[in-house]
Amino acid sequence: MALLAACDSGEQARAPTGEQARAPVPGADVGRGKLLLAQYQCGSCHQIPEVAAARGTLGPALESYGRRSYIAGQIPNRPDALARWIVDPASMKPGTAMPAMGVSEADARDMAAFLYALP
Ligand code: HEC
Repeated sequence: MALLAACDSGEQARAPTGEQARAPVPGADVGRGKLLLAQYQCGSCHQIPEVAAARGTLGPALESYGRRSYIAGQIPNRPDALARWIVDPASMKPGTAMPAMGVSEADARDMAAFLYALP
């Protein structure tokens, strides 16, 4: 917990980029998000910094996610949209190659919070 708090304050201290996406996801747990990304095996298709074995190349690498303007090249990158994308990508971009992974809303929000916390 102390470690997480330290990470969080590091995030706050970093110069803001002006992107809305840098806003924290209310009530989400960054540390749990990291564990969930490994558990759901998002890394079989994505490279994700700090997540063990997340070296997949079928999907785009997910580093610096808070600095992206768009999700999947077309959806404005905001916390609610990112969580919804993780739950059901095809509802936002019909025909996308990313499958729905059976992720709950709460789990998706934690994963989104972790992605936004990445440097
Ligand atoms: C079977 C492979 C696969 C798995 C598993 C997968 N994804 Fe994806 N993901 C993709 C592909 C392919 C895209 C690109 C979709 C597009 O642009 O239409 C994508 C796109 C994304 C994006 C948007 C990337 C960008 O550049 O904006 C995010 C965020 C994302 N995935 C998160 C996740 C998370 C979180 C999980 C685990 C719950 C996950 N993905 C599991 C294949 C996968």
